Amino acid sequence: MKHGKATISHVVLYCYDFPKMRDFYTSVLGFHLSDSGQARGNDICFLTLNPEVDHHMLALAAGRTGPPDCRVINHIAFRVDSLGELRSRYKQLKAAELKDIEPITHGSWFSVYYRDIENNRLEFFCDAPWYVRQPIVKPLDLSLSDDEILRATVEEFGKNPEFKLMTEWKAETARAFDS
Ligand SMILES: [Fe+2]
Repeated sequence: MKHGKATISHVVLYCYDFPKMRDFYTSVLGFHLSDSGQARGNDICFLTLNPEVDHHMLALAAGRTGPPDCRVINHIAFRVDSLGELRSRYKQLKAAELKDIEPITHGSWFSVYYRDIENNRLEFFCDAPWYVRQPIVKPLDLSLSDDEILRATVEEFGKNPEFKLMTEWKAETARAFDS
């Protein structure tokens, strides 16, 4: 059966301490609180990093159960629009002394992973212009300039026979998906 295309919009995360998590996401991570209230007797709030794109990208719901090291979601990723923005997010996360802050290159994306105050793993990332066969996970040095990071990416992955512009990968994969 053939289906139309769709986009991912939001994730809803259960939390142990709803007010504390709502404050953390708004004050430390800079999310906009679009709405907050109760649904079926449970606290829920709706958060976005770009109201022009989505009313909520993330919602937090009270009522998390189980131990904090329980593995359900590996991580949740939020796209930023440049390496400059990624670098400033990295500094901000370090200033907030969050756990497990890790700058990583995937060749096709540059990422910073970290944990929120309830041990959920999160990611900020920006797009690189290229498709590199995944998975690739290597340390990223954010003290380098944008040019140095891009040059290092081409040096490291450019000889890979599948290396191409992401716009090419998208166009050919969309054609295959459509047929
Ligand atoms: Fe990711």
